[in-house]
Order: sequence, then structure tokens, then C-alpha cells
Amino acid sequence: MTSQTRPRAAIILAAGQGTRMKSPLPKVLHRVGHHTMLDHAIDAAEALGCERIVVVVGDHSPDVRAHVEKRLGAASIAVQDPPLGTGHAVRAAEAALAGFDGEVVVTYGDVPLLKASDIEPVFGGEGVTVVGFHARDPGAYGRLILDGDTLQAITEAKEASAEVLALTACNSGVMAAPSALLFQLLAGVTNDNAKGEYYLTDVVELARRANHPTHAVFAEEDAVMGVNSQGELAQAEALFQKVQRETFLAAGVTMPAPETVHFAWDTQVGGGAVIEPFVVFGPGAVVAGGARIRSFSHVEGARVASGAEVGPYARLRPGADLAEGVRVGNFVEVKNVTMAKGAKANHLAYLGDGAVGEKANVGAGTIFCNYDGFNKARTEIGAGAFIGSNSALVAPVSIGAGVVVGSGSVVTQDAPADALVFGRARQVNKPGAGLAFRDKAKSKKDAR
Ligand code: UD1
Ligand code: MG
Repeated sequence: MTSQTRPRAAIILAAGQGTRMKSPLPKVLHRVGHHTMLDHAIDAAEALGCERIVVVVGDHSPDVRAHVEKRLGAASIAVQDPPLGTGHAVRAAEAALAGFDGEVVVTYGDVPLLKASDIEPVFGGEGVTVVGFHARDPGAYGRLILDGDTLQAITEAKEASAEVLALTACNSGVMAAPSALLFQLLAGVTNDNAKGEYYLTDVVELARRANHPTHAVFAEEDAVMGVNSQGELAQAEALFQKVQRETFLAAGVTMPAPETVHFAWDTQVGGGAVIEPFVVFGPGAVVAGGARIRSFSHVEGARVASGAEVGPYARLRPGADLAEGVRVGNFVEVKNVTMAKGAKANHLAYLGDGAVGEKANVGAGTIFCNYDGFNKARTEIGAGAFIGSNSALVAPVSIGAGVVVGSGSVVTQDAPADALVFGRARQVNKPGAGLAFRDKAKSKKDAR
């Protein structure tokens, strides 16, 4: 998407977070579409082609630090302690960007809906460019003082006159500038203001005074929404889901009640798939066109091929891999199991760790006993095998192609192809003994 000429870097601010989330989880690790807000910000930076990404974290946030370290490495962490303002936070990243010469964009770790395409227009300038938006309720946002398409200054609400407060063009917080210029300007920012903070926004006026170009580009208000409370997190989630639903409908997915379907950030659904009402996707779900996910199913880390049908009330967990025409019915849980073409598990079963061959039929109540309390083991079922209802397959166990397992079996040994397997007590019929049993029981009751 980029028409990039200069190298790019991103500084993501994630320090100085308030505690209004009222949660032990740091704000930026709260999730939208099953993806942390911080990861959404990092995704946008990566999509913009940023070759260096620095996340500014507070000293008190070991969890945020660990999260960044895991995804980007320790070199991508800058610590700001104590938090003395957004300008101070950007300066905290200067050392981590040593040797970088290109354009730097500053974004926030708590603005999960902002996409690379919203940010892209800030690049390519010689001066300072910010992403603005038109606020329905400008409240505490910094106001953009515009003169045509030149940005004169950003005035923080606390410093603003009534006249400036009436402006609705606001600062989203995203700002880009050539790296050398940005840090040179920041060195001139003071904390001589209402909040006693070093404002990043002050660099606009400093740039203009030094005759560097200063501009604003505009994004939709919904896209720049920041999250500061659980209520706002839920609002962001709602907006995220709305976009996902519209995207899938536009791509040809049939959804009779899209407002009841929940997607993850990375859900893939092909055109022509049917997603019935009240389906929830966790991360890592891939559903091909022509598949049907029926109501009240939960699908996570699973692949569903064309012509497969899942649910109602099915649970696909990571590693469930359903080939064409597979059928997984109500109250069936599948985890880390490959099901080949036309295989079926229609009712009430647990399939964990293994493989089910083509057209095999797994009866109601079948359990793959995959765990001994310490280790996991696999259950292999060959093509065309038939597993009678209420069977326990004690892994590791391999059931050959065409095997028929009698209902209620506990299968502990491998079964060769085409065998008939009974793993249960043999039935005994005693003629007339039922009558005698009943007579005995009745006289016992009558004697009471
Ligand atoms: C900031 C902008 C304002 C803009 C608004 C958009 C400044 C001075 N003001 O105001 O113009 O309209 O965002 O939401 O920049 N942070 C740090 N370290 C700090 C302070 C903040 O990392 O010392 C981070 C915060 O975690 C947050 C972001 O920077 O992600 C913004 O900080 P915040 O205090 O919310 O700034 P606002 O007052 O909202
Ligand atoms: Mg804020």
C-alpha cells in the first residue's frame, strides 16, 4: 500500500496510562477482536512498512514490557519513568532509534481501530503532519488551529480560550515528521503549561516558527477513538465487530443475523459460506466458502473446508482441521484432530488429538481419552471406520480402515483393518429371570 521513499519508524506510546480500566490487566493489553490494543497498534505500524518500532512503556508495567519483548524483542522497548507528558514519552524513544534516519510516526497503544490506511497520508512531508478528525464532542481533545491546509498550532483544551474550544477539528495524537527534525523540535519543548507536562503537540508551533511545513490530514472519528474505560473498550469492540460484519457481508458471506456473530481480528471466511446466528469466532479461524457454521457454535484456531457443516452447538478448538464435507454436529468438541473428507461426528463427542479418516463415522458419546493426567496421546481412526456409540478410545490407539467398534466399547488396543471390535462385557439373557427379580423387589417394598 505504501509509496514509500524514505525509511519509516514508529513510536507507540503506552506509558502514563490511567487506571480507569479498574482492572489488574494493563490498559493496552485489553483486547479488541481477541487482539490486544497494543498489537493492533503494532500491526498498523508493520503494515505501514516501519522498519523500527519502539513501544514506550512505563516502569510499572512489566506485563506490557514482556508482551512487547515477546513480539518485537527487547530493542523495541523504551522506558519512560516517570511519565511527564507525550513529548517526554517520545523523547524516551530517541535512544532506541539511534542511527535511524527517516520518517517517524507517533501513535498510541490505546487506539485500536486506527488502521495503516488512516495513518499513511501523514508520510512524505518535510515537516510535521498530524492526523486530525472532526469531533462530535471535542471535549478534552487538543484543537487544531488551521489556516487553510496549514496547521498553525495545536492547543490543548486546558490552555484554550472559549473561541478555540469552540473548534471541532481535533488532534488524534498521531503525528509524523523526519526523525532528526522531530527530536530537534522536542528538545525545545518545555513543561510551562496548565498540566506541567511536556506536550508533543507543541512541536507544531515550534516547527512553524522555524519555517518547516505543518499540515493536518483527516480521519474518521470512529477510527481514532481512544480507549480509557471498560465502557469505551466495549464501544471499540462494537465498532470493530460492525466493520468485520460489513466486510464479510461485502465479501459474499451469508449471515442472516450479522449483529449476533462475533469475529476475531484474524477470522477468515470465504464468500459463499453461511454463518448462522450466534456464532462466535476466537482467533485463528479459517472457514472456506461453501462451509456452513450453524448457530451457537464456537470456532477457534480451526480450519473448515468447503461443504463442511459445523453445529449447531459445536466447539472447534485449535488444530481442528475439517476437510470437505465433514460433519460435526451438536455438542461435539474437536481439538487438534484432522477429519478427512466426509468424516462425521454428529452428536455428543470429544475428539482430542488425532485423525479421523475419510468417511469414518464417530458415534454419539464417543470420547478420545487423550490425557493420562500428564501426557497427551493420539487416536487414529482409519477411513470408513465406524465407532459405535458411547465408546472410549484410550490413546495412544489406532483403529484401522473399515473397523467396526461395538457400542460401549473401551478400546485400549490397536485394531487391524476391517476388524469387528468389542471392548465390553458380553450380554447375558436369563429367560424369565426378569419376572423373578420384579416379584422379589415388590415384596420387599410391600414389607416396609
Ligand atoms: C493527547 C494530545 C491531544 C489529543 C489527544 C488525543 C498531547 C499533549 N495531547 O492528549 O492533543 O487530542 O491525546 O487522544 O499530546 N503517554 C505516555 N507518557 C506520558 C503521557 C502520555 O506514554 O507521559 C501516552 C498515554 O499512554 C496515551 C497517549 O500518550 O496512550 C496520550 O496521552 P494522554 O495523557 O491520554 O493525552 P491526552 O491528554 O489525551
Ligand atoms: Mg488521552
